[in-house]
Amino acid sequence: MRMRSVHRPLKTALLLAPLTLGVAGAGGGTTPPAAPAPPVRPASAVQPGRPAGSAVSLRALADARGLLFGAAVNHTLFDPNEPDYARTLNRHFNAVVAENAMKWAGLHNNREAFAFGFADAIVDTAVKNGQTVRGHTLVWHDSLPPWVYTIQTREELLRAMQDHVTGVVTHFRGRVRMWDVVNEAVSDAPGHPLRSSPFLNLIGPDFIDEAFRAAHAADPDAKLYYNDYNTDGLNGKSDAVYELVRGMLVRGVPIHGVGFQAHLNTDFDVRGAQVQANLQRFRDLGLDVQMTEVDVQLRPGRPEAGELARQAAVYRDLLRTCLSVKCAGFVTWGVTDFNSWRAGGRPLIFDDVYDPKPAFAALAQELAPPGR
Ligand code: G3I
Repeated sequence: MRMRSVHRPLKTALLLAPLTLGVAGAGGGTTPPAAPAPPVRPASAVQPGRPAGSAVSLRALADARGLLFGAAVNHTLFDPNEPDYARTLNRHFNAVVAENAMKWAGLHNNREAFAFGFADAIVDTAVKNGQTVRGHTLVWHDSLPPWVYTIQTREELLRAMQDHVTGVVTHFRGRVRMWDVVNEAVSDAPGHPLRSSPFLNLIGPDFIDEAFRAAHAADPDAKLYYNDYNTDGLNGKSDAVYELVRGMLVRGVPIHGVGFQAHLNTDFDVRGAQVQANLQRFRDLGLDVQMTEVDVQLRPGRPEAGELARQAAVYRDLLRTCLSVKCAGFVTWGVTDFNSWRAGGRPLIFDDVYDPKPAFAALAQELAPPGR
């Protein structure tokens, strides 16, 4: 089992000392603690009552920049055995996304009635803690309830989709400020046509416009996003998304932004992939852009220290690029490595026991006011 409380303040200080962020107790000349053990996480490693994360608050730094800095959350938020989850979330993030609770299967598994309880708990907790909520996601080919697949006609599915969007957005009006209205509608196939889904196959390509129109009618104040993956840099898929949203704007469809998921690994080269040029072309259309699901997997079989440094560099480069185009948000897809959807790749900025990783320090450095 990993011993942690004795080393925590020292470790955090050492991690952040080169950043000159005013970390209390960042004295030089001490020997760093031994490298952390592999990420086997006994539940007993979590000690209630200790401070969350670091002396530096990423949330405070993001607030000062007016940047939405968020994390996706799941059931762990309400786990009484994991108080550090909520503590870390509240200390370091000013925005929250439900990792799964607002998906169609989560809210509308029974065709006759919505089940808002769990999503309401996440939203109300966030609002109470002064955090902005991103809604994720209204129309997606994945995580659909079985009843959607039984629908046979365009008219019926269009009505069902509109009813779903209207019901969900209306319910959260005033509490959820932005929505991923349509998620991952562009395929990875050559030429990147729209992806096969019940919506495309039965309604046709205009399901996208119709979903946005329904969301806008239900909450005219909400910012409405198209969201996708492998679109972070300049490539054929991001070209396809660009044409998609440009066409929507020409048609007068109420779309306000594009989300770039940024599920990456340590081999990703932010500059080489031309992420800035890609984001900028969407900004030039008058759209907001956000990095919506950021995580950076470590590559297996390589020395850990190098991989953690490379992970930090990818986070740093991505946030720097995001800020350079005045992005509206930067959201990590989870809070802490141990319950990430890609836990094996340890892709987040807090480790299995909520200690900040080098990637945390890299983000803190990027968010720090100029000259600090
Ligand atoms: O909650 C059930 C549980 O009751 C059941 O026993 C268990 C058995 O498999 O499944 C649980 O649901 C799983 C859910 O995550 C909660 O853990 C689903 O099977 C599983 O499919 C679901 O995976 C999620 C996935 O989206 C599909 O919805 C991941 O957690 C989530 O991180 C992932 O997030 C997506 C974004 O929404 C869109 N972009 C890509 C991203 C990663 O795939």
